[in-house]
Amino acid sequence: MTPLDSLGRPLHDLRISVTDRCNFRCVYCMPKEVFGKGYQFLPRDQILSFEEIERLVRIFVALGVEKVRLTGGEPTLRRDLEVLVAKLAAIGDLDLTLTTNGSLLAEKARGLKDAGLKRVTVSLDSLDDAVFRSMNDVDFPVAKVLAGIEAAQAVGLGPIKINMVTKRGLNEASVLPMARYFKGTGWTLRFIEFMDVGHSNGWRLDDVVPAKEIVAAIDREMPLEPVDKDYRGEVADRYRYKDGGGEIGVIASVTQPFCADCTRARLSADGSLYTCLFATRGTDLRALVRDGSTDDEIAAKIAAVWTGRDDRYSELRSAQTEGLHKIEMSFIGG
Ligand code: GTP
Ligand code: 5AD
Ligand code: SF4
Ligand code: SF4
Repeated sequence: MTPLDSLGRPLHDLRISVTDRCNFRCVYCMPKEVFGKGYQFLPRDQILSFEEIERLVRIFVALGVEKVRLTGGEPTLRRDLEVLVAKLAAIGDLDLTLTTNGSLLAEKARGLKDAGLKRVTVSLDSLDDAVFRSMNDVDFPVAKVLAGIEAAQAVGLGPIKINMVTKRGLNEASVLPMARYFKGTGWTLRFIEFMDVGHSNGWRLDDVVPAKEIVAAIDREMPLEPVDKDYRGEVADRYRYKDGGGEIGVIASVTQPFCADCTRARLSADGSLYTCLFATRGTDLRALVRDGSTDDEIAAKIAAVWTGRDDRYSELRSAQTEGLHKIEMSFIGG
């Protein structure tokens, strides 16, 4: 009984933020000026427990969700994350995955795999330490992220996807070195257009490097051809190297929005349901989880929210929408 939203889109993916904290301060996501020392992160009692998350996931799965991605903030900062992974893995045959900055992956990969995680996506914005540092703003070395990726592959969390947010003037020069490095590894590098999520990253359209430009630059040196999407709702447009060197992807949510096929729901660390990455308001499911509501009542609430959904922010983006007080990406989950 998968609900369809008002534009006919089924509920298929659930992205769960397990913490709003991160050990990085990426300029496009958690800029230091806003997320500095005095920033108030969620207090512990407001964050869903593993049991509460598990219960909600079971309800979402009964409503048709087949893919669950753990995000943050940085999900590996949540203590005992593998305990949650084990609970979710026991629910059934889910595509259970994790988006991480890779900083703790070398230590955590084995435990996550053993708990039942299927694969990981790792964010990495440059291979150049100076550029990477200017993006993550905490002086974190590239080599440690690469070691995390290797560790994840070694324990069987591959094939890995690598996400690179491209911001004009910051890391454009890293596009070709990244493509060269990951070509032939079996890992898929995906370039993400810098988005106006949240309201604190100082987004300007001029800072977006259009995906077409990236594909053209790579194609000039390493010829590419387009590949069909894997499934309805896949956010990346895929290309393969003509010489058999594997694939890349581009996530062009600014220049080529993909709202028409958006099947993603998001659950924040404090248990609110959001039906769009650019939402300004969510629906408090934690209150229901904690007030004695039954699974059926919670399912009915989720179905009602989904059925009433008409989000297509990226298609409607305009000068007016840019100023909205949107939820931060680190809160709602990438
Ligand atoms: P797989 O391809 O199945 O591995 O997953 P995915 O591409 O859905 O997951 P991933 O977390 O890697 O998504 C990549 C990036 O695409 C995110 O970090 C966001 O920047 C962007 N993205 C994902 N979902 C949405 C969405 O619903 N709307 C917009 N505008 N961007 C999204
Ligand atoms: N624009 C595009 N992608 C973003 N991410 C975070 N903030 C932004 C933004 N402003 C992505 C990161 C990471 C995921 C968690 O979210 O690349 O892969
Ligand atoms: Fe942290 Fe990921 Fe946001 Fe960077 S993009 S600040 S790693 S949550
Ligand atoms: Fe989905 Fe909103 Fe992103 Fe459009 S902007 S693809 S509706 S999350």
